[in-house]
Amino acid sequence: MKVRKAVIPAAGLGTRLLPATKAVPKEMLPILDKPAIQYIVEEAVEAGIEEILIITNRGKDAIENHFDISYELEKHLEDKNNQKLLELIKPINKMAKIYFIRQQSPNGLGHAVGIAKEFIKNEPFAVLLGDDLFYHEKENCLKSLINVYEKEKKSVFALMKVPLEEVNKYGIISGKRVEDNLYSIKSLIEKPKPMEAPTNLAVMGRYIFTPKIFEMIEETQPGKGGEIQLTDAMNKLLAFQGMYGFIFEGKRYDTGNLLGYLKTIVEYGLRREDISGMFLEYLKEKI
Ligand code: UTP
Repeated sequence: MKVRKAVIPAAGLGTRLLPATKAVPKEMLPILDKPAIQYIVEEAVEAGIEEILIITNRGKDAIENHFDISYELEKHLEDKNNQKLLELIKPINKMAKIYFIRQQSPNGLGHAVGIAKEFIKNEPFAVLLGDDLFYHEKENCLKSLINVYEKEKKSVFALMKVPLEEVNKYGIISGKRVEDNLYSIKSLIEKPKPMEAPTNLAVMGRYIFTPKIFEMIEETQPGKGGEIQLTDAMNKLLAFQGMYGFIFEGKRYDTGNLLGYLKTIVEYGLRREDISGMFLEYLKEKI
């Protein structure tokens, strides 16, 4: 079965970026002139996804408004015949079929994914974390995962090599290398100490799951901080179906913490043709 649906969990509280995220969802913070979540929707659409469910919460109406039409703004720009700006805003609500549902309380990433069960029904589906941006020069990360799924018919997620001293920030895998970039997963260990980490391959925010993951989430008890952890449900799924990890060769940006957010803006700015020259000059001068 084709992977045509995706879930974007975006119901976290974004406490690491407070006070900015008190009233503005972190997924709506701008990376240059687009909110972070628009890049993620674009990545999903580029990978062939047709329907997207965004998991939000009470404070995140701005995400829904961003993917809706903005009648007054469009009318105003049409009256002024400002085609350039119209071309920027009009396609946003037509990128894919986008739906929203609220997570009633922040019970964890596993819980947020579980809410998508009715929407997904019995299909394989993608999960893209709302605060992780993936930049590629070769192939779109999600597309690579979909290709692996279509070949192997098993759940698969993105991996990246991280420095050994940073393994305690991530979910780390143990597994067997089956192809150049592909690992058959043995187990997942949440935030191990460097001494205890079996590899330095960390799980990143892109996944393809078979619908069996929903059963596993339902069986998962709240773990650390009372949250239902996606990693726990993935470990349960492993016992039934096996899973793959694919090493993504592009770059991943964590926009959910201050330094990560700043690095994202700088690197996207340096790649943006219309400002990169002047921006680079400015940075050189500063440094
Ligand atoms: P994070 O832990 O990075 O997000 O969750 P957070 O909870 O917003 O961050 P801090 O620690 O308070 O700053 C990873 C992803 O899971 C989603 C988040 O929105 C993010 O995309 N998430 C997390 C939910 O949708 N619901 C939750 O209950 C928890």
